[in-house]
Amino acid sequence: MALYLITGIGGFIGSSLARALVGRGERVRGVDNFATGKRENLTDILGQIDFREASILDLDAMKSICNGVDYVLHQAAIPSVPKSVLDPIANNQANVDGTVNVLVAARDAKVRRVVYAASSSAYGDTPTLPKHEEMTPSPISPYAVAKLASEHYMTSFYRCYGLETVALRYFNIFGPRQDPSSPYSGVLAKFITQMLCGDRPTIFGDGEQSRDFTFIDNAVQANLLACEAPASQAAGQVFNIATGRRVTLNEMFSALEKLTGYSGTPEYGPERGGDIKHSLADISKAEKHLGYKPKVNFEQGLGLTVDWYRQQRNAPQENKNKEPVSLRS
Ligand SMILES: NC(=O)c1ccc[n+]([C@@H]2O[C@H](COP(=O)([O-])OP(=O)(O)OC[C@H]3O[C@@H](n4cnc5c(N)ncnc54)[C@H](O)[C@@H]3O)[C@@H](O)[C@H]2O)c1
Repeated sequence: MALYLITGIGGFIGSSLARALVGRGERVRGVDNFATGKRENLTDILGQIDFREASILDLDAMKSICNGVDYVLHQAAIPSVPKSVLDPIANNQANVDGTVNVLVAARDAKVRRVVYAASSSAYGDTPTLPKHEEMTPSPISPYAVAKLASEHYMTSFYRCYGLETVALRYFNIFGPRQDPSSPYSGVLAKFITQMLCGDRPTIFGDGEQSRDFTFIDNAVQANLLACEAPASQAAGQVFNIATGRRVTLNEMFSALEKLTGYSGTPEYGPERGGDIKHSLADISKAEKHLGYKPKVNFEQGLGLTVDWYRQQRNAPQENKNKEPVSLRS
């Protein structure tokens, strides 16, 4: 049976991947240093995974952790645009040096394939919609530059060493276990937790900015397909992972009003510098080469996510982080 290594397994996406793989009866190893992730994200599966607490910046540790691994799902990063602007050196260490370590360790351990959590931020604020993989990237923040540099490292390791790599450019992934508490959190996690508490959320700008919000199960599906796709279709390639539909923040607020029972209005704040106005992916390349098809749409995903945060608010401490109802098939 194949062994999967998930870097950043304590994070939102990493722990969701782990839960899906464990659910399929796969062997899972994980590494995290909890820079942004949480131990609680692993509580219910800790007995079923081989967890190693380490930093991907520790090359010796990564070499030992990669021993016997078939697939690496590389999610570890400091995933924040504002943090990268405040500290570009820490951003580069975690998001570029860390990737090179993972690739060297994977290459030396003769791993079959590395699947990388790339980012739609690579496109920058070019007005063309939808974004497709042939477009010239135009990253703005140090975070976006680092994620793009890591993508290029993926392709380079395929070309130079024959290590099979696949980069998945995620567009605004949301779902259970996304951290709502930090000032850098995703807008959905933040709005849901605020509105469930009856707190007024702030929309920066006029609310007409839009995003291709993608439920976590779709990202999980994309990772599994990226491991399985024939090398001729996937190796050394970059794919958009999204839904191909965009939703404005005002539309998102209206949908959340119904789901959370919040009866107030949002507060409108000044537009935030550096925010892009619209984001929408062309997902035809992933559909064609990986067989990817988003299974959970925005409304279904939002419902599942609100249910999970509501359950977390209501549950006694020991029941927290139990598996939410899933539409995964
Ligand atoms: N969430 C999104 O919408 C989105 C969009 C595009 C790309 N991504 C990428 O997906 C990946 C996962 O993002 P997420 O939303 O789950 O974030 P997250 O912060 O929940 O997860 C990242 C994990 O990496 C771990 N980590 C950070 N530095 C590490 C190090 N040096 N060694 C070991 N572990 C380390 C963190 O502790 C955390 O558990 C990241 O690479 C991110 O850039 C996410």
